[in-house]
Amino acid sequence: MSSESTIAAARVPRHLAVIMDGNGRWAERRRRPRIIGHRAGARAVNVCIDFCLERGIQALTLFAFSSENWGRPEEEVGGLMKLFLGALEREVDELDRRGVRIRFIGDRSRFSEAIRRQMASAEDRTRANSRLHLTIAASYGGRWDITQAARSLAEDVAAGRLAPEDVDEAAIASRTCLAELPPPDLFIRTGGETRISNFLLWQIAYTELWFTDLLWPELDVATLQRALDDYAARERRFGLTGAQLAAPTQETTE
Ligand code: IPE
Ligand code: IPE
Ligand code: MG
Repeated sequence: MSSESTIAAARVPRHLAVIMDGNGRWAERRRRPRIIGHRAGARAVNVCIDFCLERGIQALTLFAFSSENWGRPEEEVGGLMKLFLGALEREVDELDRRGVRIRFIGDRSRFSEAIRRQMASAEDRTRANSRLHLTIAASYGGRWDITQAARSLAEDVAAGRLAPEDVDEAAIASRTCLAELPPPDLFIRTGGETRISNFLLWQIAYTELWFTDLLWPELDVATLQRALDDYAARERRFGLTGAQLAAPTQETTE
C-alpha cells in the first residue's frame, strides 16, 4: 500500500452514526401515505449496511425511532412497529451470515412483547459476530441515555458500592449506551435538518458532523462516499492546536 492510501485507509471512520431522516417527506412528495416512505427507508438501511461492510467501517449506529417519535399519530407509530417487527423477522439471518453483530439501544419497556422477543433473539444469535457492530437506536433519546446512566450511578452510590468522588467522566461513559465502542467518528443526517434531535448527546462530543438534503429513501453509495471523503479531509483537533497535531512527539497537556 502506498503511503497515501495508508493515510486514506487510516481516515475511514471506525464508527459511523446516522440519523435516517426524510421518509415522510419522500412519501408526501409522491402523494403517498408516510408509511410508504418508511418502507422505502428500510431499503436504504441495507444500502448503508452494505457500504459499511465494503469499506471496513467497524461500527454503525442507526437512529430508527426516537423517544419523541412515540408522540406521532397512532396510525404512523403502529405502521412503524409493524415494519420494525417485519424487518427483524426478515433481515437477521442474512446479517448474521455476513458477520454483523446486532444490538439495540433505547427504552425497550415501551415496545410490544413480540418486538422485545425479536430484539433479544437477534442480539443472542449475532453475539459472536464482529465484522460490523450494528446498533439500532429505537425508543432512544440522548437525554434518556444520560438519565439512565445517572440513575444507575446513583443506585450504586446509595448502596455504598461507589463513592461520590468516583463519579467522573469515565464512570458516566461506562454506563451510557455504546460504552464498549469507540465514540462515533462521523455523524451523518439526511433529510436537510441540521440538528441532533436528541440522538447520541454524550457520545458525539468530538464527532464530525455531516448533513445532506437528500431524503433517507434516496440514499446511495455516492452520497455516503462524499461524506467519507469530506471526513477524510478534516483535521480533528480535539481542542489542541494544528501545530501540536503536526508535531505529535511534543508534550501535550490532556
Ligand atoms: C425518519 O423520517 C424516520 C423516523 C423518524 C421514524 P421521518 O418520518 O421523520 O420523515 P420526515 O422528516 O417527516 O420527512
Ligand atoms: C429524528 O428525526 C429521529 C429519527 C430519525 C429516528 P425526527 O424527524 O424525529 O426529528 P425532528 O422532529 O425533525 O427534529
Ligand atoms: Mg423527520
